Amino acid sequence: MESIVIQGGVPLQGSVESSGAKNAALPLLAAAILADGPVTFHRIPHLNDISTMTNLLAWQGADVIYDDKDCLTIDTREANKPEAPYEMVKTMRASSLVLGPLLVRFGEARVSLPGGCAIGARPIDLHLKALEVMGAEISVEHGDVIAKAPNGLHGGRIFFDQVTVTGTENILMAAVLAKGETVLENAAREPEVVNLADSLRALGAKIEGDGTDTIRIQGVERISGGDIFTIADRIETATYLAAGLITGGDVTVTKTDPKLLDAFLARVKEAGATVEVGDDFIRCAAPERLQAVNIHTMPHPGFPTDLQAQFMAMMCVAEGTSLVSETIFENRFMHVQELVRMGADIQLDGHTAVIKGVKKLSAAPVMATDLRASASLVLAGVAAEGETVVSRVYHIDRGYERIEEKMRSLGANIERHYI
Ligand code: EPZ
Repeated sequence: MESIVIQGGVPLQGSVESSGAKNAALPLLAAAILADGPVTFHRIPHLNDISTMTNLLAWQGADVIYDDKDCLTIDTREANKPEAPYEMVKTMRASSLVLGPLLVRFGEARVSLPGGCAIGARPIDLHLKALEVMGAEISVEHGDVIAKAPNGLHGGRIFFDQVTVTGTENILMAAVLAKGETVLENAAREPEVVNLADSLRALGAKIEGDGTDTIRIQGVERISGGDIFTIADRIETATYLAAGLITGGDVTVTKTDPKLLDAFLARVKEAGATVEVGDDFIRCAAPERLQAVNIHTMPHPGFPTDLQAQFMAMMCVAEGTSLVSETIFENRFMHVQELVRMGADIQLDGHTAVIKGVKKLSAAPVMATDLRASASLVLAGVAAEGETVVSRVYHIDRGYERIEEKMRSLGANIERHYI
């Protein structure tokens, strides 16, 4: 079991580069299934979920060639197994992203139903309902989704009862090769959806409206291979900016895009941070003491649920009382009790956490439970005086490339222990 050991209390300073976004790369890799030629992906982060996805594509029969450190080429023309078996995808919830592409290309697909996860039930009922509107016959047997579309998929009007990011991405990909027009309403507006639409257009897809809540897709016969570029990871970016702010430091993240973080930057300014932005960098310098600020997670362009835990860690040492409301997932407060172990004053009231800022957190052994909760514990650890040990760090490796290396480059005293 691996743990991250932190000697905290040092203000973090300096600059760190953002990696490509995990939540953009996963749907982009799945889109390779649609391409009638090799696709070269640029700026793919080295993360466990990414390896799971590329291993799955290779298992389906695709050629996967790593060209250099963060670039790879995938050619799915020889792929002939439209499946995603449980054993291969049980650790990666985003396996549902291959369902739409496999079904529209092969006329059938068998994909393991994603299991539950720490932050919530996370069903994919909206994905399946949308595929049925497009002509698919769907059944669930022995934990797998069995989808059939012997006559191919046809377009239709799909209204998502709830905004779903991977649901929008899954159906967007299926619609690219479906017959006729598909209209997605109440679609997700996340930058990762726009990155996917931009990339599919570059390969010949006919898509408009991405980035708004209504996306129109005209089905085409085929899309070609080509080059695809992953956007910066906005959640990783904000996590390192938060590391600077929670320690009273001054951190710059480069190779990123300030336009992806409007809601987060607005809140940290309210909390007293000095924010400087350029075309591809963001700098946040901490005030004497952060001020309490309320947040309410929402679909993009609202405050991202993936930054809720990290923002809460900052509010634990802010002056005043803040309210953090989680509206997207039903159980995304697993970090609260661990932060309380480190001296935070947090009361839970349903989907709202009431945080009374304390002057200092106290280092302690804590346990990661999910990806973003683990990030918030690392932030608390670099802020707290003394030694914090975060166990079960496999959670954090799913979303943060080389986290201890990047934190060390900002002056953190942080190591990975293999015990
Ligand atoms: C994506 O998950 C992200 N993952 C998540 O990031 C992110 O937290 C989430 O979007 C919200 O922004 C990837 O992009 C790979 P949803 P996704 O479908 O698509 C409910 C991280 O930390 N829902 O937008 O699975 C669902 O239960 C991860 O990087 C249904 O009820 O999330 C949730 O309450 C965590 N039925 C809400 O909608 C469905 O069919 C939003 O989920 C689909 C979703």
